Parts: sequence; C-alpha cells; structure tokens
Amino acid sequence: VPDRLDAAHLTHQLRTTAARLGGRSGRALYQRIRSMPPLPAQVVHVVKSSGTAARVPWPQYPPANYLGQLADEFQAKLALERADLERSDCDFYHTSTFSDGSVVEGAWDLRGREDAYLGSIALNARRVLELGPASGHLTRYMESQGAEMVCLDTGFDVSNDLLPYDGIDVSGPTMQYMVNIGQVQNAWWYLHRDLRSAAKVVYGSIYDPPRDIGTFDVATFGSILLHLRNPFNALEQAARRTTEAIVVTEVIDPAIAEGSDAIRFHPTRSKEVSQVWWSFSPRSIEVMLETLGFHGISTTFHSLLHHWGHDMSQPAQEVPMYTVIGRRR
Ligand SMILES: C[S@@+](CC[C@H](N)C(=O)[O-])C[C@H]1O[C@@H](n2cnc3c(N)ncnc32)[C@H](O)[C@@H]1O
Repeated sequence: VPDRLDAAHLTHQLRTTAARLGGRSGRALYQRIRSMPPLPAQVVHVVKSSGTAARVPWPQYPPANYLGQLADEFQAKLALERADLERSDCDFYHTSTFSDGSVVEGAWDLRGREDAYLGSIALNARRVLELGPASGHLTRYMESQGAEMVCLDTGFDVSNDLLPYDGIDVSGPTMQYMVNIGQVQNAWWYLHRDLRSAAKVVYGSIYDPPRDIGTFDVATFGSILLHLRNPFNALEQAARRTTEAIVVTEVIDPAIAEGSDAIRFHPTRSKEVSQVWWSFSPRSIEVMLETLGFHGISTTFHSLLHHWGHDMSQPAQEVPMYTVIGRRR
C-alpha cells in the first residue's frame, strides 16, 4: 500500500505498471500467466499441516499423465510427505498390528483369515497389483508371503465414485469423502513406515491406470468392485496387465438367490450419498472373469468379523463372503 494514497500518485503508479507490462516482456508475462493451470476451486488437506512434512492436499495435480510413480525417488517423496503422521491422523479400516505388538481395532478384522480371503492364491515370488488397499493389512500380508506389492488407490485429482442418490450433486460430499479416504491412506503409510514395508503405491484412476506400472502375475480386488461405478472396466484394465490370476472377494448378498448370475444395483437403497453401487452373485464375477479370458475358475466361501456401519461401539459380527479366482490357464 503506497504511503500517499492520492489520485495523482495512483495514476502515476498505474502508468508505470502499464508501461512495464507493455511490449514484448508484457506479452511474455501474459502468456506465462495464461498457460498456468487454474487453481482447484477447493482444496482439502488430508494430512495435518503441523510438523515438518509437507501437506498432502486433495485434489492436487498429478505427475504428468500419472507416470513415474513407481520410481524410488517418487515413492520416497510420497513417504516423506507423510513422515510425521501419528496414529491419531489415521483411520485404520483393518484391525492392524504394529511392530511393537500393539493392535488397533478396525471395522474389518482379517487376522488369521487372509489366506481364505484371497482364495488361497499362491503369492510367493509373484508381482501383485492390489486394487484399493485401504489401510493395507492385506498389502503387508501378501508381502509377508513373498509377493512384490504394488497398490493402486484414488488420489491426486481422482476421487472414489459416489452414487448420486436422487440425482444430487456429489461434488460436495466427494470433498468430505476424500478427507476420510486420506485418513485411511495415512494408515497405509503409517503401517508402511512402522513395518518397514517395501510395498509401493500409485494413485490415479482404476479405469485408466498409469501406463508405466508394468505387468503383474496376480491382481486382487478385495471388496472394491461394489464401490465402483464401472466394475467391468476396472476388471478389464487389470486383466490387460495380469498374466496369471485375478482374485475377486465380495460380500454375499442374501437378496440374490443361490446359483443366480444376478448383479443388483444400489443394493442398500440408502437415502444418503453412498459408495455402494452393486452387489454381485459369485456367478456374475465368474462370468466377467471368463469373458476376460480367465477360464480356470475357483470359487470359495468364508466369513470375516466386521463392525457394521463401521460402528466400533457395536460388537463385531461374522459376515459371509466369497472369493472367485480366475486363472489364465
Ligand atoms: C472397502 S476398501 C477394501 C480394502 C481391502 N482391499 C480389503 O479387501 O480389505 C475399498 C478400497 O478401494 C478403494 N477404492 C474405492 N473406489 C475406488 C476407485 N474408484 N478407484 C480406486 N480405488 C478405489 C478405496 O479407496 C479403498 O482403499
């Protein structure tokens, strides 16, 4: 703010600025400003701003075409951004055990049932793509079985798919939802650091995964297809990159008759914005995997302990589930 705020002084200031911006340098400056990407309208910080680490916002600009994320330097950058996370910054979706033996209870308890959950798929020396790892209990389990892990989850400017109940605009709820997902992803990184995991993660679209992530022996879809607007598209993208087997685990919907090949849309009929799009019969998953060229099908049934509605004040209940494995050969 100038000391002398009179009209003559202001006119002089404006003339000087206009002269400075005129001509070639002015045009160059204008071009540069025009070519800058617009700022996202709203920004949510998913990692607390205190501490020494940089904040990790959603949305934020991805690396060009989402490429280069598996480079060690890029993974180190992601880890550094989350280096000062504390347990209170995290939402542990899975019941999780830390290196000091302590346990945090999550809405889903997979402990001791991981092998059944994954259909007893062989993991040793396999390169595995885990779609939607949440807080990463299975990431660590598969790693402990000898797998080289790469996870894919939403991030940068890609959000989870919210079902627009009654035609409502989901952009506001999406912002809030991504705060919650950010806390679940914080938990993935907290465990990653605590358990000295070598797993890598890429963020982006499950419908158009980064082109440079390579091929995998196995791809896993643990309780994620129900959350996807376009589940077949996601399976198809994974199939293109998978040489051995795809593993799909879902909750059994008692409203679907046994032996049926049905898929139900919006099975919860929730009157709120929901992230549950579908429930699948085991047969429907088998048919989709066969359609994608995975003909060696095995389907198994099991259950998991779950706090319904993620309400930790209620006792955990057994939830019946199934796992379909489709094999190339
Ligand atoms: C219900 S959790 C499943 C966690 C774990 N796979 C398991 O089986 O226990 C769903 C996971 O899928 C991710 N997810 C949901 N929608 C997604 C989308 N459109 N693209 C990528 N990941 C998505 C969520 O962020 C979360 O990590």
